[in-house]
Amino acid sequence: MLVKNINSICCIGAGYVGGPTMAVVADNCPDIKVTIVDLNEERIKLWNSNDLTKIPIFEPGLKEIISRVRNKNLFFTTDVENSIKNSDMVFISVNTPTKTKGIGAGKASDISWVEACTRQVASNAIGETIIVEKSTIPVRTAEAIKTILENNSKKNSKSDACSFTVLSNPEFLAEGTAVKDLQNPDRILIGGEDEESIQALKNIYLNWVAEEKIITTNLWSSELSKLTANAFLAQRISSINSISALCEVTGADIDEVKKAIGLDTRIGKKFLNAGPGFGGSCFKKDILNLTYLCQHFGLPEVSSYWEQVVSINNWQIYRIYKMVINKLFGNVTNKKIAILGFSFKANTNDTRESPAIFICKELLVEGALLSIHDPKVSLAQIITELGDIGEENRSNWSHQIDLDETYDDADAIIILTEWEQYRNINWDLVSSKMKSPSWVFDTRKIVNPKKIKNCDFNFWQVGLGNNI
Ligand code: NAD
Ligand code: UGA
Repeated sequence: MLVKNINSICCIGAGYVGGPTMAVVADNCPDIKVTIVDLNEERIKLWNSNDLTKIPIFEPGLKEIISRVRNKNLFFTTDVENSIKNSDMVFISVNTPTKTKGIGAGKASDISWVEACTRQVASNAIGETIIVEKSTIPVRTAEAIKTILENNSKKNSKSDACSFTVLSNPEFLAEGTAVKDLQNPDRILIGGEDEESIQALKNIYLNWVAEEKIITTNLWSSELSKLTANAFLAQRISSINSISALCEVTGADIDEVKKAIGLDTRIGKKFLNAGPGFGGSCFKKDILNLTYLCQHFGLPEVSSYWEQVVSINNWQIYRIYKMVINKLFGNVTNKKIAILGFSFKANTNDTRESPAIFICKELLVEGALLSIHDPKVSLAQIITELGDIGEENRSNWSHQIDLDETYDDADAIIILTEWEQYRNINWDLVSSKMKSPSWVFDTRKIVNPKKIKNCDFNFWQVGLGNNI
């Protein structure tokens, strides 16, 4: 077997996956030149910023890696064509959102960005190129990629000696722990047909990942495993959230239930935190994609089974929103509500599908006055996420930099993201600054009820049974 030596990599897409993943590759493989390309000039400019606090993605440990490898063997550029030309291996790491129109709208994944990249690779690659699917895509996308490459490379005059192989190498990192997950992954999954290409990719990972953690499968198993992993993870959250509602009406405590079930090694302790519903760019879109695929392949029962995971998630956030309104006497007009956390989880500046977006928009429509705090989400990002409703009600909401100024005269506080600093709030002090009567709603179960015993506000916590 003649395994190709990989000297240069191009990654198309400088987003939440492309940026951190390639930074870790460059850091562990000093002999490989890694170039990350993106059409978005502003994003590339930020990745190249001298001020490392300005890189577009916040992930613990990321800026330290960027400062070590950037402009040594890691480069960010908008020059897609030349980067492809000069690479032995091209990772496709672009967005694959839910389709908004046409067949499958609202469910199927839109692979137009993947297809656009494939065409760019077909017309620019020279010699033997290995294409790696990093994006999460519908099963059998590799087939489409191969067909496009084969047909289009023939039209490329310089392509006489051109050849392509396609691998699937899904990414399992979670935001907020991306560097840790990439540095020490549970597994690396490589799907493909060509043994030499598989070995070439494996050799890259072997620079820092133990061989037994690298598993290989056929292309379709690899593509499907990624969707299945996200579906199983999301299903756990919908399961625990459904039980949190039952706890609240029966006097049980979700943390106690979580502990009791999690000690069963078959269930396991991780990923059982009740909350306002899962957010993030992937769980919803990937499950919807899975349900669409099931329909497409004639499996409507399987499709509706998985659809329930998304339904329960929508219901969880809505039931929490309705409960807030009810506790505030069914009226929030001109009431000041402090929103603690806007990102979809802690330790990331990502707000895609964050439960905070729905809650804030609905509260603004009801006439509430919002004071929004998040340690990493910028005002510009909140403006974008709140869209027209935010703009129409611009004088009714503010973005707070200083947490202590967030709750002055507030009628209520809603904790929506589990940022560490919200765990250490001095509730006695906060209580003295709020109106009376007032409420604290903890949707992340991070406040210790014992520590607020003497506080002057009413308290609600997800999955806590004394809320009857
Ligand atoms: P993202 O939107 O943050 O980044 C994608 C980038 O690709 C954008 O900057 C966009 O400008 C760029 N792009 C699109 N088409 C391009 C083209 N033709 N040429 C050059 N650049 C182009 O997306 P992301 O969160 O990094 O996700 C990427 C993929 O990885 C998705 O399929 C997602 O499902 C999957 N994934 C995401 C995560 C995560 O935590 N975000 C984890 C695992 C897998
Ligand atoms: C998730 C998966 O965990 C990754 O393995 C996967 O690679 C990624 O999706 C992807 O494909 O995009 P991510 O969405 O970044 O990662 O973050 P998670 O930690 O999974 O959290 C997702 C949502 O679930 C967040 O809103 C989080 O607050 C919520 N969650 C998570 C809970 O409500 N309870 C939990 O116990 C865990």
